[in-house]
Amino acid sequence: MSILEVNNVSKSFGGVKANVDISMSVEKGKIVGLIGPNGSGKTTLFNSIVGTYPVDSGSIKFNNKEVSELPVPVIAKLGLLRTFQQTRIYGKLNCIDNMLISHKGSDESLITIFSKIPKNLTDKAENLLSFVGLYQKRKLRAGDLSFGQQKLLELAMALMNEPEMLLLDEPTAGINPTLINGIIDRLIKVNQDFGITLLVIEHNMKVIMQLAEDIFCLAHGKMLANGSPDEIKNDKRVIDAYLGAQ
Ligand SMILES: Nc1ncnc2c1ncn2[C@@H]1O[C@H](COP(=O)(O)OP(=O)(O)OP(=O)(O)O)[C@@H](O)[C@H]1O
Ligand SMILES: [Mg+2]
Repeated sequence: MSILEVNNVSKSFGGVKANVDISMSVEKGKIVGLIGPNGSGKTTLFNSIVGTYPVDSGSIKFNNKEVSELPVPVIAKLGLLRTFQQTRIYGKLNCIDNMLISHKGSDESLITIFSKIPKNLTDKAENLLSFVGLYQKRKLRAGDLSFGQQKLLELAMALMNEPEMLLLDEPTAGINPTLINGIIDRLIKVNQDFGITLLVIEHNMKVIMQLAEDIFCLAHGKMLANGSPDEIKNDKRVIDAYLGAQ
């Protein structure tokens, strides 16, 4: 059963055709990859799926519900969340507070939120920080974390909201190579233990080949190929457009 169906989606910025007639489908419960050269339209597709920018044409269905006309918070409440290529954290707040304000019940002013935090929410935040390996850093200002640690914090912040599907934009970019296996293991746990469907943009081919069962490849804003990691690795179009240049 597919959780996400993208059909014939196009999106231009002025004269730049960032996405042209894109169709793809993600099966519920899977880890699916999205690859392609710089500027091929991967982040644009994420923005369209989660409602950041309206699409020019096409349809996007999440759990069979048309979401292409809905705003980001409404789509988030349906259970579809994303993380950012450049992280979005609150640098002056500590990690725990970042976790608490990312919780979806928290649309009120910060003062109101912090004055009535239920203990179970703080416990949940601490457990998730521990899951991503940031428990020891929980009282530190998020802005003082390394870029890699900020990416882990952003993952934990997304998990606070128990999404059904998570879109991850380059989760290992900027992360020390020795820590990458830890990220892969955690993402597999997010998928298997938390039951969250993942759509992952990655430039690190070793990572995406290990993680994803199914991979889509974009080039010049168009869908170039789709298949298993082995099929994608050996696809001449993908090699010519992307892998050959890696
Ligand atoms: N908000 C925007 N305004 C104008 N142009 C944009 C905007 N967002 C993306 N683009 C353009 O759309 C094209 C696709 O960009 P996008 O960021 O989706 O690529 P990408 O595949 O994520 O690249 P990368 O691997 O470098 O992150 C690029 O030419 C980019 O400059
Ligand atoms: Mg991008």
